[in-house]
Amino acid sequence: MNPDFSLITYLNERKALVDRALDDYLPGDKNEPPVIFQAVRYSLLAGGKRIRPILCLAAAEAIGGDAEAAMPAACALEMIHTYSLIHDDLPAMDNDDYRRGRPTLHKVFGEDIAILAGDALLTEAFHLLADRKRMPGIPTDRLLDVAREIAEAAGYRGMVGGQVQDIRAEGEKVGLETLYAIHRRKTGALLRVSLRAGAILAGAGDEALADLSDYGGKIGLAFQIADDILNVEGDPALLGKGTGSDAARGKITFPALLGIEASRARAEELVTEAVSSLAPFDDGAAPLRAIARYILERRS
Ligand code: IPE
Ligand code: IPE
Ligand code: MG
Ligand code: MG
Repeated sequence: MNPDFSLITYLNERKALVDRALDDYLPGDKNEPPVIFQAVRYSLLAGGKRIRPILCLAAAEAIGGDAEAAMPAACALEMIHTYSLIHDDLPAMDNDDYRRGRPTLHKVFGEDIAILAGDALLTEAFHLLADRKRMPGIPTDRLLDVAREIAEAAGYRGMVGGQVQDIRAEGEKVGLETLYAIHRRKTGALLRVSLRAGAILAGAGDEALADLSDYGGKIGLAFQIADDILNVEGDPALLGKGTGSDAARGKITFPALLGIEASRARAEELVTEAVSSLAPFDDGAAPLRAIARYILERRS
């Protein structure tokens, strides 16, 4: 790996690019009715690590493509993720008060506007994905493939299905295999498709796409295990969200089933396997290798 590569610098630079692009895509709150634009901006521009868009851009780069060309798709993924957080925090779901370092959207704008802001972000994501003029030079069949894959990963086959299983499992006796299945869908699916989207847009061949999918599935699982661990022992000030809520709500999590140490060990194994999936790639995949490790070490 290039010894000069600094993951922190890379993540900061990419996050700044994503933040700017999101701001550009979002209509200002001079539009009617202003409240929906204010609400969407409140949640989407509140910070957040932007890990899904960064993975999408990094996958395009690993294929040898132009990362910036994938920016609209990267931002669409962040819109879908932010919608999922807004709805996840609602009283009917996890009932959380803090997110991204500020009160949750429903606390400030009310549940009605929070539901609609989530709906608006999900819809706007597909508006962006279908906006061919923003992705000139990318063949339409690739754009269609990406939209279909993202819909599949976000909907009832993926994230929505996982969220349903997650909620239904609260307080139930659930085994490890079911927990893997829940995490794979509620969190893993969107992370995995973030890589696939970047790779498909950059014209990846079947083998490279399969390797990046494998990497995405593994880090997706590790990412949610890390989230579960942070809910037990993370610092709310760094996380920008509350901790301890999983245990209070009887959520099925890795620490609850395996304990902290075994959960960390499992996440480490997954990260090692993820990095192995990148063996055929050259230095273009250096950011992806570093991001895999960061997923375990992150404090926010
Ligand atoms: C939190 O996602 C919810 C999970 C799927 C684990 P992130 O940890 O990516 O949250 P932000 O985007 O940085 O706020
Ligand atoms: C969030 O899962 C997953 C989605 C929103 C799809 P969690 O409920 O475990 O995440 P946090 O801890 O609230 O961020
Ligand atoms: Mg939840
Ligand atoms: Mg939650």
